[in-house]
Amino acid sequence: MTYQNSLDYAKQLDQEDPLAYIRQEFHIPKDKEGNEWLYFTGNSLGLQPKTTQKYIQQELDDWANFGVEGHFEAQNPWLSYHELLTNNMAEIVGAKPVEVVVMNTLTTNLHLLMVSFYQPTKAKYKIVIESDAFPSDRYAVQSQLQFYGFNAEEGLVEWKPREGEELLRMEDLEAILEEQGDEIALLLIGGVNYYTGQYLDIKKIAKLGHAKNCMVGIDLAHGAGNIQPNLHDSDVDFAAWCTYKYLNSGPGSLSGLFVHEKHANRKDLPRFAGWWNHNKETRFNMRQPFDVMAGAEGWQLSNPPILSMAAIKASLDLFASVGMDALREKSLKLTGYFEYLINQIDSYAIKIITPSNPNERGCQLSIQVQNADKRLHQKLTENNVITDWREPDVIRCAPVPMYNSFEDVYRMVTILKENL
Ligand SMILES: Cc1ncc(COP(=O)(O)O)c(C=O)c1O
Repeated sequence: MTYQNSLDYAKQLDQEDPLAYIRQEFHIPKDKEGNEWLYFTGNSLGLQPKTTQKYIQQELDDWANFGVEGHFEAQNPWLSYHELLTNNMAEIVGAKPVEVVVMNTLTTNLHLLMVSFYQPTKAKYKIVIESDAFPSDRYAVQSQLQFYGFNAEEGLVEWKPREGEELLRMEDLEAILEEQGDEIALLLIGGVNYYTGQYLDIKKIAKLGHAKNCMVGIDLAHGAGNIQPNLHDSDVDFAAWCTYKYLNSGPGSLSGLFVHEKHANRKDLPRFAGWWNHNKETRFNMRQPFDVMAGAEGWQLSNPPILSMAAIKASLDLFASVGMDALREKSLKLTGYFEYLINQIDSYAIKIITPSNPNERGCQLSIQVQNADKRLHQKLTENNVITDWREPDVIRCAPVPMYNSFEDVYRMVTILKENL
């Protein structure tokens, strides 16, 4: 695609964009004078769809009007509310409905999944993560190792970029598995890395891991609603993701969970139990012995928070009306334009570390700042450009196809250039 470096051209791209109308469906934060922010942090907290309030209000009204009877009498009965999210969520991550459920929060789900899929023995117990894995994932796997009595340092294998490089190479994971595969029980990898924005080939990772009899789990926090991971076809064993980033469901909102069909109906897998993964036909008979549900729903524990689920439903309905294919198509163009404009700036002070191959990234570009100088990030913020700084030296910027425009991107890069 050939782009042009002008505001008129950016406006023309917006006029030609079939998804431009969706921006109107979101609340865009403004400064005190009423000027809209240039919001580039949908990778951290997505913006609020205008319908969210109505969806939550519906549940508040049903609670006010029906009390406990809302479990059956609400417009969307609470007892089965989570089922309303399943098909749309499965579509977003390329899974079968039986493989997906929305429940808990991300780190909690990673632990629950490890209860089933991290079954270490004395000889095969190590866990592979990216050296730049999100801290919560690192802490989670370290604590799993310790829980089973292993040394967290020794049991953790880091897949690292090579000296002088920022990105991960598949050959290096292959080498790790070649050397230590017999001792490795689990690979827990970020599908899209939170820091570099690198989108890894998860199908390849699953194939490599399975060849050495390792389980493969994916943290899709930065992937869900951003790229199409085709979870079922990728053959990974499990995955989990939060819904407050690209899935626009509000701060601290619930997590999605995927268990591949080949495991989802297995009742023999070790797992923790609660009344919500007990057979729903007999759940309210109350005195039966535990009878685990089939499918990903068989990993639930508790009855879910309906107000949070209402916000997720508002967002997923929007996703369903647009479709991931159309969003990804726009995203490739939008981030491509962003990259083009940044590359037009002739400065030693910044460098994009995200892969230049569009198939190896989502919408985020991570800009490395020379000498880790935070002033650039501060200047952007002072100029209404909302990005985030991640230690040690990166500004993460995500033009989100749902609500960012080509004009946003043009204006953002103009401000970036002026402040270098
Ligand atoms: C890649 C990744 N993993 C895990 C988490 C932790 O999520 P939670 O606080 O919902 O458990 C985050 C949060 O931003 C994340 O980006």
